[in-house]
Amino acid sequence: MKITFSTKAPKKADSILVGVEEGRKLTASAQELDDVTSGMVSRAAKTGKFSGKTAQVAEVLAPAGLDADRIYLLGFGKEFDQLSAQKLGGTIIGRLMGAGSKTATIFVDAADEAEVAAQIAFGIKLGAYKFEKYITKKEEGDSTEISEITIVTKAATSADQKFDNLNAVAEGVYLTRDVISEPPNVLYPETMANEAEKLSELGVKVTVLGEAEMTELGMGALLGVGQGSARESKLVVMEWKGGTKSEAPVAFVGKGVTFDTGGISLKPGPGMDEMKWDMGGSGVVLGLMKALAGRQAKVNAIGVIGLVENMPDGNAQRPGDIVTSMSGQTIEILNTDAEGRLVLADALWYTQDKYKPQIMIDLATLTGAIMVSLGQEHAGLFSNDDQLAERLTAAGLATDDKVWRMPLGDAYDKQIKSSVADMKNIGGKYGGSITAAQFLQRYVNGTKWAHLDIAGVTWSAKSTATAPKGATGFGVKLLDRFVSEHYEG
Ligand code: BES
Ligand code: MN
Ligand code: ZN
Repeated sequence: MKITFSTKAPKKADSILVGVEEGRKLTASAQELDDVTSGMVSRAAKTGKFSGKTAQVAEVLAPAGLDADRIYLLGFGKEFDQLSAQKLGGTIIGRLMGAGSKTATIFVDAADEAEVAAQIAFGIKLGAYKFEKYITKKEEGDSTEISEITIVTKAATSADQKFDNLNAVAEGVYLTRDVISEPPNVLYPETMANEAEKLSELGVKVTVLGEAEMTELGMGALLGVGQGSARESKLVVMEWKGGTKSEAPVAFVGKGVTFDTGGISLKPGPGMDEMKWDMGGSGVVLGLMKALAGRQAKVNAIGVIGLVENMPDGNAQRPGDIVTSMSGQTIEILNTDAEGRLVLADALWYTQDKYKPQIMIDLATLTGAIMVSLGQEHAGLFSNDDQLAERLTAAGLATDDKVWRMPLGDAYDKQIKSSVADMKNIGGKYGGSITAAQFLQRYVNGTKWAHLDIAGVTWSAKSTATAPKGATGFGVKLLDRFVSEHYEG
């Protein structure tokens, strides 16, 4: 699919889309189209519930006097904010794919045209995502490929420049969705590391550590999780140096459990397939690094992902084992299914120790308990720094990747005290997401840190305008915005 911006409409398109403002007020292009079609547009604007409210759509089939299959009236509302323009783009692409239009021309004449046009294009791209590479037989009625969308605006040049950046973010979201969607026989630590290595084409420096190097570093927590797997565990570091030499980096750390069976504390069978997306945090870090490099962000950013497969096996870790993490702290393993925190313990310690970041943010599909607390609407946010928490909350609202702050505290920390080691890896029946976060906090060594528990938001059974069902890509837009607002000059 090609999206272009132009000051002039192409000669022909299957679908023509024009804006109608709140109160059925036709935009200039809608008015012109109304004249050509002897009033079909203004009549359609008066049908049914359509009133021009943001993101409403009305459709005219086989319009008279026009070489096009369809006209769509788009509700432009009173005025656009970025998100509603984005959502309108997502709605548009859904309608076009459903209708089988191959080409479309969208007229954008609104206030702040360049921004609105670029955001509509962004929404179109996000909403057009599909993961169909393993479907070899197309069925009649399956949605069609759109070949070309032209957005007509007098601010075409500036819209195009704005979209360049947004498109880089969308490419990051696509990569995140791709790796999360891949089946676990295809995507495992080594192949995920290969995906990361591809970012070197964009100027990202990529380093992959294998089990020998991690043993050398003393990463007993991460390695213990992977020891029951036939696949080698990996730790991948991605470095993007877009900032000044002296500036400390911002660091992102992702949980990359490419499949979580629970290990010897085996999970129940039904729904276990879903644990292919237990590498969601690492997928976000990968997509974010692609976005930052793709738009040449003026920041020094580090992405670290801990990649393991949690399998039951003759060599697997047992409940009762005690492991020593890279930090030197020992951990009593009481449930091998509480593995994400073990992976992150070493990944976080390594990141702060080696890169001394100004802030460190981890993402992980860490606990089922966060879905009990927050459902699928917000990711859980935990932080030892109020400013960092506030910035993430605001970036979440601005991008619709919403986060909700949860508490940390000594009383919770006590829940992970062990009588035989420095800590245990489970905290008991209550406050499971919080005790998991307390565990992570023991490995940040005082660094300003935030933890996003994305277990509830990484995968969705329902489609939205800009995220088809499946892997949502939650977190890429959020962190890209967070970086651009606070860490780029
Ligand atoms: N990967 C899971 C958490 C999860 C559950 C993510 C459902 C997405 C959907 C994690 O490794 C896990 O198994 N957590 C346990 C922790 C418990 C054993 C303390 C959980 O949440 O039940
Ligand atoms: Mn688990
Ligand atoms: Zn897990």
